[in-house]
Amino acid sequence: MIKDKFAPIIIAVDGPAAAGKGTLSRRLAHFYDLAYLDTGSLYRAVGWSVLNAGGNPRNADEATEAAKNLDMSGIESHDIRTAEIGRAASIVAAIPSVRAALLDFQRNFAKHPPHFHEGKVRGAVLDGRDIGTVVCPDATVKLFIIADLEERAKRRWQELTARDAGLPLEQVVEDLRRRDARDSGRDTAPLTPSSDAEILDTSKLSIEEVVARSIRMVDRKLGIGSSPGETA
Ligand code: CDP
Repeated sequence: MIKDKFAPIIIAVDGPAAAGKGTLSRRLAHFYDLAYLDTGSLYRAVGWSVLNAGGNPRNADEATEAAKNLDMSGIESHDIRTAEIGRAASIVAAIPSVRAALLDFQRNFAKHPPHFHEGKVRGAVLDGRDIGTVVCPDATVKLFIIADLEERAKRRWQELTARDAGLPLEQVVEDLRRRDARDSGRDTAPLTPSSDAEILDTSKLSIEEVVARSIRMVDRKLGIGSSPGETA
């Protein structure tokens, strides 16, 4: 396929919950001058919106209505990073009409990243579960970030206990286990690496090591010789 050299660079970062996609994606966006979209926040916002209206995330009509009317402005002022909203997000994310309602927004972000045409960014990083497989199958680079369940649960537990000091680690392990099963087992856009994705296991790596390795992978795909020891 002939690639348009003026098209935005797209980096797709997929993987299971709490594998470190968000931190890595922000660092890559900063390093390569790219816009960033955390697609999980869209599903979280739908889950929040259904619960906030007193609805049930399993109800396909309610969840689809919420996805169609999604207003992301101001959503971060609500607490969408809780375990409860994570659970609701993965329930609404298994409903095909919810995914369909959010697809155009994500594709449009990748095709026309904010400030791309003013030359302020060179493209976009999108992170999620199905970026490399469904949202941007032609992404310039695809990374699939994994880590052991126990390690991911420890990382997420550290984040969540900042707000909920009494939260037991076992509950976070169980929560992630269920979410992994739901995200990987659903029929529409299940969590699975694209056949051309680079897989990176972060279980035993520091953030700096994950960033440095990812930059080497991205540079290789972009045809750039990376300088030794260069990190974001
Ligand atoms: O931050 P964390 O890894 O816990 O999850 P997230 O990225 O905020 O995503 C929350 C939920 O949204 C996931 O468990 C998925 O079910 C769903 N999701 C999805 O299905 N597809 C995406 N592209 C992004 C998130």
